[in-house]
Amino acid sequence: MRKKVTIIGSGNVGGTTAQRLTETGLADIVLYDIVDGLPQGKALDLAEAGPVVGFDVQITGTTEYGPTADSDIVVFTSGAPRKPGMSRDDLLEVNKKIVTENVEQVARYSPNCVLLMVNNPLDAMAQLALKVSGFPAERVVGQAGILDTARFRTFLAWELGVSVKDVHAYVLGGHGDDMVPLVSYTTVGGVPVGQLIPEERLEEIVQRARDGGAEIVGLLKTGSAFQAPSAAVVEMLEAILLDRKRILPCSAYVQGQYGIHDLYVGVPVKLGAGGVEEIVEIPLSADERAALHETAASVRGLVEALGL
Ligand code: 2OP
Repeated sequence: MRKKVTIIGSGNVGGTTAQRLTETGLADIVLYDIVDGLPQGKALDLAEAGPVVGFDVQITGTTEYGPTADSDIVVFTSGAPRKPGMSRDDLLEVNKKIVTENVEQVARYSPNCVLLMVNNPLDAMAQLALKVSGFPAERVVGQAGILDTARFRTFLAWELGVSVKDVHAYVLGGHGDDMVPLVSYTTVGGVPVGQLIPEERLEEIVQRARDGGAEIVGLLKTGSAFQAPSAAVVEMLEAILLDRKRILPCSAYVQGQYGIHDLYVGVPVKLGAGGVEEIVEIPLSADERAALHETAASVRGLVEALGL
C-alpha cells in the first residue's frame, strides 16, 4: 500500500507542496483546509494534471479530519502568513490557536504519524505541536533550515557565477532574524567560501540570507514565500518516506546537544522513516556556538510566551 501524507492548510505552501509531492509519486495525498471548496478544488485540479504529468497517486481535498486518518506524515502549513513589516514572531498568538486545534485533531486520527511543522514562528510552533500531540520528539520536526540554507546557497552561487549544486552550506538556529549561517561549513566546489569572497561581502550575503523571508514578503505584499518552502518540505518528506537517512538542517527537539536543553531549534539531523533519528553534533567555533545560543534564547522567549 502507498504511504499517505496529509497537508493541513491548502494555501500557497500547502498547494505547492501537494503539487511537488504528486510529481514524486511517493504518496497518496489528503489536502485539508477549513475553507470549503479550496482543498477540494485544488485537489481536483491537481488530480487532473496526472494524465499529462504522468502521476497516478490519489489526491483528496477535504474540510473534515476523517479522511486524514492513518496518515504516515502530516504537514502543517495552516495559519496566517506575514504581512510587510511583520516579523515571524508577530504571528505567535494567531497561529497558536490554529496549530493547537489542528494538532489535537491530527494526533487523534493519525496517532502514529510524523508531524512536519511549517507554521511560523516555526520553532515555537514545533514545540507547541510536541506538547499538544504528546508524541515522542523524534516524530515532531520543523522545516526551516533547508529553506534558509537554500537562500544562502542561491545568493552565494549568484555571487560567484557557479551552479547552486556546487555550493554547500548549513544555516542553523531558530527560523528568525538571528538564524546562524555557518560560514566555516560553507564550501564551493570543495573550497571554503572564505577563500573566494572577501569577508565584508560575505557578511552582506549572510544578512541577505537572514532576511530572505522578509525580502519575499516585501515583494509579494499579500503573502510570504511558498516555492522554496514547499521544495524544502518535499526534500524532508522524501527523506522520511524513503527512509533515506539524510543529514539535513531541521528544527528538532534538542536535549543537551550543543549545550541547549529541551528546545526546538535548527540543527543538523538524520532524517529517516522514524523521523528525527539522531541530532548530529558538528564542531562549532566559539562565535558560532555563541550565535546558536543567542538564537536559542530568542526561541525560548517565544516558547515561554506560549506558556510551554
Ligand atoms: C519564509 O522564510 C515563510 O518563514 C517562511 O519565507
